[in-house]
Amino acid sequence: MNLNIGHRAICIACLLLAAGFATAQTPQETYKPVAGQPGKDVVWIPTPDATLEQMLNMAKVTPDDYVIDLGSGDGRMVIAAAKRGARAHGVEFNPDLVALSQRAAAAAGVADKATFSQGDMFEADISKATVMPLFLLPNHLSRLAPRFLQLKPGARVVSNTYEIGGGWEPDETVRTTPCNSWCIAVLYVIPARAAGSWQLADGEWLHLEQYYQKLQGTFQIGDIAVPITDGSLRGHDIRFSVNQVRYSGRIDGDVMVGVAEGRIKRDWRAARASDGANE
Ligand SMILES: C[S@@+](CC[C@H](N)C(=O)[O-])C[C@H]1O[C@@H](n2cnc3c(N)ncnc32)[C@H](O)[C@@H]1O
Repeated sequence: MNLNIGHRAICIACLLLAAGFATAQTPQETYKPVAGQPGKDVVWIPTPDATLEQMLNMAKVTPDDYVIDLGSGDGRMVIAAAKRGARAHGVEFNPDLVALSQRAAAAAGVADKATFSQGDMFEADISKATVMPLFLLPNHLSRLAPRFLQLKPGARVVSNTYEIGGGWEPDETVRTTPCNSWCIAVLYVIPARAAGSWQLADGEWLHLEQYYQKLQGTFQIGDIAVPITDGSLRGHDIRFSVNQVRYSGRIDGDVMVGVAEGRIKRDWRAARASDGANE
């Protein structure tokens, strides 16, 4: 082979170019989102790490959970949940953020548990979620509220800063410290369906009206109906008082069982006789 100087220079340039092509990053791989950049329905602002950990703590995320973040941004919430052993999925409209999240999940070693899809959060199937950590605006949360209420009792929706509203009060609100902005975590536990009339084993009746996790109603013995007080639900768990007797128990479908504690302590059990209107 007899290459002159000119040919050699061209070949070296070709090799350097080829090497460059092999290691160059595509524009998508160097994509860096900017806080405040527009999104379909809401801008991208990342949840600060302290608030994010607070939200996952309040939701008590475990490996048994299936976590869904709607508007998952750069994937940090989903990846943090996966690091706690949960299966987690993010739905994000911006395809660059989806790709960024997938790369971040792989870099964190949780790509098997943390998955992402490009799509509209209002069309996503959330029916299997047990935890939903969200950073959305109040009008999005209230639009999604009817679907939150279809989740299994005990599922947790935990929101960065904003409340769902519409009369649904949070179960818990915590301000994270130290923290500069977006520091409030707001927890909602999906309540069991309790509204309606329940018959207790010994002929007593419980008539309940339900406002999300708050309960009102009467406890009826024969013709006498006594209002219940302090009626509340936390997931499956129900509590109320009748005079000085404190009832606590658990609702499983159309049955609830528990303990009544007054001057004496006794077990109680009730079966749903009719449905009432929720909320
Ligand atoms: C405030 S950021 C929250 C990001 C992330 N959840 C977090 O807590 O760090 C909202 C995200 O929702 C995305 N988004 C806006 N409208 C959307 C829609 N209709 N469907 C899916 N994602 C959407 C935006 O692109 C943005 O990444």
